[in-house]
Amino acid sequence: MQLRVVGDQPWDVAADVLAVPYFGKPRFDGALAEIDRRGGGELTALAAFGELKAERYGAVVIAAGGLRAGRLMAIAAGEPETVTRQVVLRIGAAVERRLAGRNVRSLALWLGDLGDRIDGGAVAAAELLARGVVEGGFEPATIYRDGYENAPSTLDELILIAPGADLAALKQAAERGVVMGEGANLARRLDNRSANDVTPDVLAGEARAIAEANGLSIDVIEPARAAELGMGMFLAVGRGSDNPPRMIVIRSGEEGEKDALGRRLAIVGKGVCFDSGGISIKPADRMEEMKMDKTGACTVIAAIATVARLAPGTPLTAIAPAVENMPGPHSARPGDVVKAMNGKTVDILNTDAEGRLILGDAMCYAEKLGATNLVDIATLTGAVARALGDQMTGAFGTPQAWYDAVASAGERAAERYWQMPIIEEYRKDMDSWYADFTNTGSAEGGLIKSALFLREFATVPWVHLDIAGTAYFRKKTAYAPAGATGVAHATLVELALAGAKKA
Ligand code: BES
Ligand code: MN
Ligand code: ZN
Repeated sequence: MQLRVVGDQPWDVAADVLAVPYFGKPRFDGALAEIDRRGGGELTALAAFGELKAERYGAVVIAAGGLRAGRLMAIAAGEPETVTRQVVLRIGAAVERRLAGRNVRSLALWLGDLGDRIDGGAVAAAELLARGVVEGGFEPATIYRDGYENAPSTLDELILIAPGADLAALKQAAERGVVMGEGANLARRLDNRSANDVTPDVLAGEARAIAEANGLSIDVIEPARAAELGMGMFLAVGRGSDNPPRMIVIRSGEEGEKDALGRRLAIVGKGVCFDSGGISIKPADRMEEMKMDKTGACTVIAAIATVARLAPGTPLTAIAPAVENMPGPHSARPGDVVKAMNGKTVDILNTDAEGRLILGDAMCYAEKLGATNLVDIATLTGAVARALGDQMTGAFGTPQAWYDAVASAGERAAERYWQMPIIEEYRKDMDSWYADFTNTGSAEGGLIKSALFLREFATVPWVHLDIAGTAYFRKKTAYAPAGATGVAHATLVELALAGAKKA
């Protein structure tokens, strides 16, 4: 896709479709009024008719009258006071999704006043809109099917229209946005693939191809070496399946090298290719969704590749413990006591609390490789989805300064996080008769306890992102299909890029 940023007036830009955002119910003034006038007044006529509802991300596609574009799309940006960076991102995505199944090769998108509504102004709007258009072009229905009739249109050209702006700066930002969007889509494509397709070994193979394509070094640890390393929790989860576990380790930068902020950041993602629950088996209802339980892994694999594209050589480590959690004669049993890589003993009361087991060993290994700062990302608990739904990721961290650094990366990335407390009193509910602690306690405060468990495996600043609610949508929206959302990819990339060494 060619990217152009132009300073022409929207009515002078030739394209198959000209998309224009409008605020309110709608409010036609300034350039929008001129677009409408030149378009033959169809927009104001539609508004009078009641067709232009103000519901955010709703879009109509109409004839373009005297405009140079073939068609005109008006997309509702909602009330201007409530526009956020994420709204701008989603406007880009909704424009592209509205054109799915249509014949569109060139799309022109007018920034309008969107830049005035967000931090970073028009430059930020250009990045977010370009990223949104790319993310809006992701369609899971094309993964296993050829000739899907509602496939998003493949654009030859995206033209961002921003009269009076610094076009070079906008172009650079939009290019960054495209790379960010492509990275999210890489993660989403892997996330959505089914468990009969993507086993831990297949995921490791995909990771290898991605690493090699981006000049990254990769090490895939098989069970024998994991045993030598003492990864008893990781192996306990993996042993129930015929598809053996793989600990995927991708690195950029020199060994032991720190980034410009003096950090060696490690991002650790849960890679449960299928979570049946194991012997503590899950109910059948919605069990098919547990193919998505590898989303954290796919996200860190894609994120390190995106960082390599935007700032090659940035010191960063991505670790993805990949397993299949299955019941069978070799599975770990409730009550099994295993030893973690850091020497702590764990009483596995519930084999369905498997994510924290594989993450604990992966975090410990990250520190062994020199990590000074940790972020783990996981579809860890149903509780977080019940608490926050699919729009807000639950996050924990300590010390607070490290949490704040991750949260501000999240803001730059136009993603939403809600900090959850780490409540010391609940830790005693995880005391074991035999081991240092159990992997679950009573259900009350279960979300907090999942973080208390993980904290046992971090000795450096650590943040935990629980994306069980946000990793995938059960229903499509105007801005995203059902399935993987790519959540937190951009946050992790922004966090790592904060330590990029300027050339
Ligand atoms: N992968 C699940 C969490 C999950 C649930 C992700 C729904 C996405 C949607 C996780 O491994 C799990 O089973 N968690 C248990 C923990 C419990 C046994 C302490 C849960 O949340 O019920
Ligand atoms: Mn589970
Ligand atoms: Zn799980």
